[in-house]
Amino acid sequence: MFSRPVARAALAAQKRAFSSTVRASEKVAVLGAGGGIGQPLSLLLKLDPHVTSLSLYDIRGAPGVAADVSHIDTPSTVKGYAADQLDAALEGAKVIVIPAGVPRKPGMTRDDLFNTNASIVRDLAAAIARVSPEACVCVISNPVNSTVPIVAETFKKAGVYDPRRVFGVTTLDVVRAARFLSEITSADPKDAVVTVVGGHSGATIVPLLSQTQYGKGVAGETYEKIVHRIQFGGDEVVKAKDGAGSATLSMAYAGAKFANAVLRGLKGEAGVVTPTFVKSPLFADQGVEYFSSNVELGPNGVEKIHPLGPLTAEEEKLLAACLPDLKKNIEKGVQFVNQTA
Ligand SMILES: NC(=O)c1ccc[n+]([C@@H]2O[C@H](COP(=O)([O-])OP(=O)(O)OC[C@H]3O[C@@H](n4cnc5c(N)ncnc54)[C@H](O)[C@@H]3O)[C@@H](O)[C@H]2O)c1
Repeated sequence: MFSRPVARAALAAQKRAFSSTVRASEKVAVLGAGGGIGQPLSLLLKLDPHVTSLSLYDIRGAPGVAADVSHIDTPSTVKGYAADQLDAALEGAKVIVIPAGVPRKPGMTRDDLFNTNASIVRDLAAAIARVSPEACVCVISNPVNSTVPIVAETFKKAGVYDPRRVFGVTTLDVVRAARFLSEITSADPKDAVVTVVGGHSGATIVPLLSQTQYGKGVAGETYEKIVHRIQFGGDEVVKAKDGAGSATLSMAYAGAKFANAVLRGLKGEAGVVTPTFVKSPLFADQGVEYFSSNVELGPNGVEKIHPLGPLTAEEEKLLAACLPDLKKNIEKGVQFVNQTA
């Protein structure tokens, strides 16, 4: 038999192995997994080594997507859930990504989607509050400026709201900004990362180009053009798809990138910082309760909300245009939940 010290060491090693297995167990649920974003997002999450179990839910088609994705040779398990299996899909989820809802058609703003998507997001949030209130919820469904307050208000009503765990996914704006800046400067997009703050629609999207090495020299008409492109880049896709929807592939990439950041934060990785639309103190004194800025992610979700840092006169102007629109979008979401009690 083992000597006592050897036995103790063996026991400690066993405990370590067990606890690292437990820590490594990360179930991610995708609500709306059968859609244009949901399918490639599920594929990319299957490739993420931080995901151990993938739960795919939709009112249509999720079991098929799950069967397909489940054949990919990565370690995570995948299960699909039909329309009447939402609770089972949510059971034990640590991270929930929501791309459920209708996308834009040409000529529509994100706010035009409110009537349909508000109730979809509210009902999904009510189920999350009941089944997996401790999960980190990443909202992709538009209008994000309103759907994030809808999730928050629904959680408040259920008595489970923790502002550290509700996120609006604005990563596509960050992805586009790096790509567009790289196109005009010939920099590698990974070196042209731009902090994009504010909200996620048109004038509420505020890129802080002055804070990046490659962006600070951009001026005049080139500056006006790239700011407009970052704010309205989604329209390029909506127009090109000509009625068949909005960004799905780039959005799936952005959604998977954001989910990966949340998972790394949950696992205790230090220094995971990315812009995301959260309950924020930055402009709360002006009645803007939610705002996207650089956020440090940690084991409980939001760890620290970074201030904006120094802004140029142009960026101050963009911010001044953003805040009133954002305030209206947020109020619309809050009122929706409280009026449809
Ligand atoms: N945050 C962003 O940057 C961003 C970017 C692009 C699109 N979006 C938004 O993402 C959403 C989805 O876009 P898409 O192109 O994938 O649309 P889509 O129509 O292709 O897919 C949406 C899916 O949601 C499902 N769905 C509808 N109601 C549901 C419910 N109650 N529960 C579960 N699933 C439900 C549908 O069955 C469908 O499969 C839209 O609101 C769109 O505006 C956000």
